[in-house]
Amino acid sequence: MCYGRFSEDGLEYIIDRYDTPRPWINCITNGKYCALVSHTGGGYSFLGSSGYSRITRAYPPETVLSDRPGRYVYIRDRVTGEYWSVTWQPVQRLPSYWQARHGLGYTRIVSETRGIMGDILYFVPLGANLEVWRVKIGNSTGIPRELTIFPYVEWCLGNYAFDLIETGFSGLFNQVELREGMIVARKNLWNIGHRPQKPHAPWDKIAFMGTSAVQEGFDTVRESFTGMYRSTQNPVGVERGLLANSVSTGRDSCGAFQLPVFLDPGEEWEFTVTVGAAGSIEEAQSLVTRFSQLEAVAEESERLAVHWREYIGRLRVDTPDDSLDLAINVWNKYQSRFTFDWARMSSYYVGGGSIIGFRDTCQDVLGVVPMEPGRVKTRLRDIAAHQFRDGGTLHNWDPISGSGPRTGHSDDPLWLVLAVAAYVRETGEMGFLDESCAYYDEGEGIIYQHIQRAVEYTLGRLSSRGIPLMGAADWNDGLDQVGSAGRGESVFTAGLLALALRELEALAKERGDDLTRDSCRGSYNELARAVNEHFWDGKWYVRAVTDDGYTIGSSKNDEGRVFLNAQAWPVLSGIAPRDRAIAAMDSVREVLDTPYGPALFLPAYSGPDPRIGIITMFSPGSKENGAVFNHSVAWAVMAEAILGRGDVAYEYYRKSLFLTQSRDILRYKAEPYVYAEYVHGPESPYSGMGEFSWTTGTAPWMFKVCTEWILGVRPEYGGLMVDPCIPPEWKGYRFQREFRGATYDIRVENPDRVSWGVRQVKIDGKPHEGQVLPDLKDAKRHQVDVVMGRAQGPAKG
Ligand code: NOJ
Repeated sequence: MCYGRFSEDGLEYIIDRYDTPRPWINCITNGKYCALVSHTGGGYSFLGSSGYSRITRAYPPETVLSDRPGRYVYIRDRVTGEYWSVTWQPVQRLPSYWQARHGLGYTRIVSETRGIMGDILYFVPLGANLEVWRVKIGNSTGIPRELTIFPYVEWCLGNYAFDLIETGFSGLFNQVELREGMIVARKNLWNIGHRPQKPHAPWDKIAFMGTSAVQEGFDTVRESFTGMYRSTQNPVGVERGLLANSVSTGRDSCGAFQLPVFLDPGEEWEFTVTVGAAGSIEEAQSLVTRFSQLEAVAEESERLAVHWREYIGRLRVDTPDDSLDLAINVWNKYQSRFTFDWARMSSYYVGGGSIIGFRDTCQDVLGVVPMEPGRVKTRLRDIAAHQFRDGGTLHNWDPISGSGPRTGHSDDPLWLVLAVAAYVRETGEMGFLDESCAYYDEGEGIIYQHIQRAVEYTLGRLSSRGIPLMGAADWNDGLDQVGSAGRGESVFTAGLLALALRELEALAKERGDDLTRDSCRGSYNELARAVNEHFWDGKWYVRAVTDDGYTIGSSKNDEGRVFLNAQAWPVLSGIAPRDRAIAAMDSVREVLDTPYGPALFLPAYSGPDPRIGIITMFSPGSKENGAVFNHSVAWAVMAEAILGRGDVAYEYYRKSLFLTQSRDILRYKAEPYVYAEYVHGPESPYSGMGEFSWTTGTAPWMFKVCTEWILGVRPEYGGLMVDPCIPPEWKGYRFQREFRGATYDIRVENPDRVSWGVRQVKIDGKPHEGQVLPDLKDAKRHQVDVVMGRAQGPAKG
């Protein structure tokens, strides 16, 4: 079964059938305005916050099943009275031709029905906060055609949950009308006097919908457009060919225009629809006017193309694996940018919060830092500003208010260390560590102090055995009861702390801060000793110990015996001695590996266990209960690469890659061009089905582990390390990358068919000692020739 394919240049995913197993969406954003657009035009938009500043509607899970509502363009034949929609949805009349293309920053849907061609390009301009629909209608028949066109959206206006849960009440505050040819939608709800409304219910923006076309009519009351007992599939307004010019005062609202057009045979007509939110009518008016000019629209869409070409061009690979190349060069990079912009805030699958997770956004940095160090620096300042003076952090925050809960998840603060280190390694900008940044509660400290405090905070929360306390949970949110009484211990957090200590130690060394360097080393050694003394089970590391001393991830358990993260993190952080590291990762392979990559743990829990937490309540094989959680698979890839087992690292990488998964699309269902958060595990009846695509830390981590640990090109403080760990059958590959202003064109040859080891490096034809390419700081292009070969000395890892 084939629903689509990539374009020749890989820059578009082309979908030829509208009946895909799930809505396949594109996330189109300029970082402020965001539009989720499905292949049938479904989806919603928001400005700044998915939870509190929604412009248009679409609600999971209804949206996932029905892929409605969306941004629609209906066409009605004035002579026959027949009508349909360009995007197939929502009318679902059979088109004679239909195709959707998801590209970088845009989606285009083209169809032909009853001899009328419809072509909609949806995009969000780089520098303006709205979505533009460039619409073309063409007459492919030999006779003149009289048509009416109806563009349509459904308004949400601000608070997603308020609109969803209290639809009737929420509608009371709507005021939607036509002003100077533009539909203007407001929610007249304010925090007044002594009766404050629910938090964030008020919305101080106005939504707008404009068009460059001549209008015959409009509707803003949804009931008026669809009619009673009808829906967007058979709206009475379209059926009649006449909208009612309804003004929504306190009613469930929409925006729809009635646009007449007469087309001679072969004639094509082009116009725009603009939808967005603004601070004032004047601002909205100026956006509508600007994007009603077809030349301006063409210019903006060309600017967008240049922007994305430049973005993806900053790092390119050419390997024997075309799927890997397509992921790294285009689609994994594109998804990473989306997660960097919006973390886990907006999804087609789960309800819209308005939160940026502290840990999530720190990790999202890792997927964009080679392409966008400047934006990463700004983001790091913002992240550090959500850390408390004692080194603890908010668990997440709402970008509008800046506030959020302080939950005490044990891993949160430590991710900041990894994110800051990644930025400084990329840019070499040690000075960033001296930049001052306020703490969330009081006072300020330089970035270096922020990360020192993150580490000190965690070191101050160790159990009597010297293992980090679990707190509210660790990376695995589902282990939320393990440490609720303040005694449970986490091996994940131990591994993360160890890696953070190593990162801080390396930074301290660069700064000449011997005190911090030595104390990091001491704490690291202590931690390694404690983990190896108390948490080794014989063939693998255990995952955690609960408040009442129950061990999770032990050979004594019937369920939850082996956990992936508990094996990978001791390897990533180096606290596992080599023999244990090998044994632990072998256990992953023996017990956890599946056709889709290693599961998060197995066997899954069959029912609630109050000692452990919500993880045991997800159905077996789903989400964090024994699914193949792709985010964690990335850590298995990295661990195997650290151990020098390039074939296994690559095998895990390839198994979980969306391009591999989607070969069996009726099983997998999710988009073939981005990662899903997880794939149902072996104990699920839906084993192999992808879930919760787009918003997942898998994107940044897979990008990082593939480029830095399989292909082995990773920034170090002193330069760019080239340390491949590849499948031995590869003859070689090419890796081009910008690094601190210069461009390195690295050609790796593998004549001895090894997995790792480098025997020769030449820069611009001259032999170079070692594997770290120097920071040449000359803004030039350099040719680097690397020959792999049997390395002398100790085994890798
Ligand atoms: C998804 C959450 O966004 C992330 O923060 C968490 O670490 C993983 N699920 C695992 O629980």
